[in-house]
Amino acid sequence: MIAAYQALCQARVNAALETLFKAPAPELTRLYDAMRYSVTNGGKRVRPLLVYAACEALGGNAEHANGAACAVELIHAYSLVHDDLPAMDDDDLRRGLPTTHKAFDEACAILAGDGLQTLAFSVLTDKQLTPQDADTRLKMVAALAHAAGPAGMVGGQAIDLGSVGLKLDQTALAFMHRHKTGALIEASVRLGALASGNPTQVQLDSLQIYARAVGLAFQVQDDILDVESDTATLGKRQGADIARDKPTYPALLGLEEAKHYALELRDQALAALRPFDDGAEPLRALARYIVERRN
Ligand code: IPE
Ligand code: IPE
Ligand code: MG
Ligand code: MG
Ligand code: MG
Repeated sequence: MIAAYQALCQARVNAALETLFKAPAPELTRLYDAMRYSVTNGGKRVRPLLVYAACEALGGNAEHANGAACAVELIHAYSLVHDDLPAMDDDDLRRGLPTTHKAFDEACAILAGDGLQTLAFSVLTDKQLTPQDADTRLKMVAALAHAAGPAGMVGGQAIDLGSVGLKLDQTALAFMHRHKTGALIEASVRLGALASGNPTQVQLDSLQIYARAVGLAFQVQDDILDVESDTATLGKRQGADIARDKPTYPALLGLEEAKHYALELRDQALAALRPFDDGAEPLRALARYIVERRN
């Protein structure tokens, strides 16, 4: 079920993303090529899937969530381009291909990341891709800016880089993971809910509990896969966290305990969806997928 839903949503968001990388002048071709490369090089599109699934859980039309889906994926792609830079995780492989700074060069990768980030917000102000009313679009911009910025993903990345070689306790590790990865996942669910039209506060609150659990579970599973998957399956270098002495859940709890914790978070996410009807099935399937995925 999730595979078919994933394929449908991937096709939908990929078609919308594809329209965004036409260079407005010949001088900008290389920059736009680097941006396109960083986005269209595959990727599971988990954040767009969460946008569409949250929109549909509240009875919304997924076609109206294309802007929100593109915006979260653009922020995610930018975060990966910068995460892979030599000054950060210094990785050469992403989604089975050379990282953007390897395929182009470092300066180009920095600028491509900058371009993707600002493009995300342009998309949310574009009536065509984001047909919601101005008040809703403003709420989307605010939620995404908060999640992507220094109180969200950027803050988490700063903590991550400052934690190399340190032993964080579980509270500190959860704080880092909730920021670097959880924040954007929470924003994906919120933007999807906003895109549905008229979410109630009660619905937003339940979805927030779901997203908080899924967001942390996603990074716990990412840490687990770094230990037990392989480079070909992952499309990125296996063992990179261990090689760089990064604090991770398997390092803190051990592999088996980390796996238990991921399942516990999945169950917390599913419990938060109890008030919802069958429209929330894709969200439920995504919670399961996130802790079962192999890449
Ligand atoms: C990888 O994210 C980086 C993290 C936040 C853990 P994904 O696992 O969603 O990467 P892609 O988009 O599928 O390549
Ligand atoms: C990245 O976390 C989180 C981001 C904000 C990009 P990781 O550094 O663990 O992501 P991977 O493993 O390189 O994809
Ligand atoms: Mg990193
Ligand atoms: Mg990394
Ligand atoms: Mg990782």
